Amino acid sequence: MIKVENIIKKFGYTIAVDDISFEVNKGDILGFLGPNAAGKTTTMRVLTCFFPPNSGTATLSGYDIFKNSIEVRRIVGYLPESAPLYLDMNVVDYLKFIANIRGFKGSELNKRIKKMIDTCSLEKVVGKDIEELSKGYRQRVGLASAMIHDPNILILDEPTSGLDPNQIIEIRKLIKEIGKEKTIILSTHILPEVSATCSRVLIINEGRIVASGTPDELTKKAKGGENIYLGVKGPKDEIKSKIISMEHVTTVEEINHEDKIINFLVKCEAGSDLSENLFFLVRDNNWSLTKLHKEEANLEDVFLQLTTKES
Ligand SMILES: Nc1ncnc2c1ncn2[C@@H]1O[C@H](COP(=O)(O)OP(=O)(O)OP(=O)(O)O)[C@@H](O)[C@H]1O
Ligand SMILES: [Mg+2]
Repeated sequence: MIKVENIIKKFGYTIAVDDISFEVNKGDILGFLGPNAAGKTTTMRVLTCFFPPNSGTATLSGYDIFKNSIEVRRIVGYLPESAPLYLDMNVVDYLKFIANIRGFKGSELNKRIKKMIDTCSLEKVVGKDIEELSKGYRQRVGLASAMIHDPNILILDEPTSGLDPNQIIEIRKLIKEIGKEKTIILSTHILPEVSATCSRVLIINEGRIVASGTPDELTKKAKGGENIYLGVKGPKDEIKSKIISMEHVTTVEEINHEDKIINFLVKCEAGSDLSENLFFLVRDNNWSLTKLHKEEANLEDVFLQLTTKES
């Protein structure tokens, strides 16, 4: 569906995108994850024919960004970083204006607008001027205008940035729903967003792809093992020495001590899953167990490892 081959984009001496290649299959929601200045927006701008790359190329549904840039613009819907809207237009007039530019007329135009109002839940605000709308609703109007021509591919640059938690959940739900029929690339800094919304992730840092895979695959790749939080009532030093002598335990750290209960953080080798062994240790020694909680490595760990390694 989307094939990106060796794209390089420079701005003067800055190499914003440094030899990126990847593919997106039909029906994928690809999360583009990276810190500030990683090159996410630049890559999206290349794919939407906003500007050409210095070298490399990309095809979207078989259309080449150099040779078929008009067709690319036809089949792609783009929501830029801050959705540019005409604030003094009301929602329905704005959507009409965009639909007009996209070549819709008469009843077909009205049908598309109705569909977008429906899909993006804009019923409540259709008659309002855009400047009166909350950020979340503006973002929905942006999405509606990006999708008005029913594109097969949607490129969304930080679609939930600046929204409150309720609006974030709503927009994510909407993207997931849309993703059932379209191929989507979205960029974000927000890690839970990727786990919640995306079927695949590319982590990009300093213009390069540093990891790719499903959110699960990337989480499993995280080094550093597992953390188990353990609360025990019993003799502190004995507990500590027995835990540290267990196989696969890397470190035991006392977090706090309250009312004879000692809370430990037990770090173990990845994949060792010592929760059950810790439970048996406590039981066999007749101590009391007050807490046993395993914290899986998460996407955040992977992201931090991959984007802070070199610096
Ligand atoms: N039009 C431009 N002119 C000059 N430099 C640019 C331009 N656009 C981007 N850059 C530079 O390219 C690099 C990548 O920027 P880009 O906007 O792609 O990052 P990003 O991953 O989208 O970051 P953010 O998360 O902050 O949106 C940055 O160093 C940026 O300063
Ligand atoms: Mg950006």
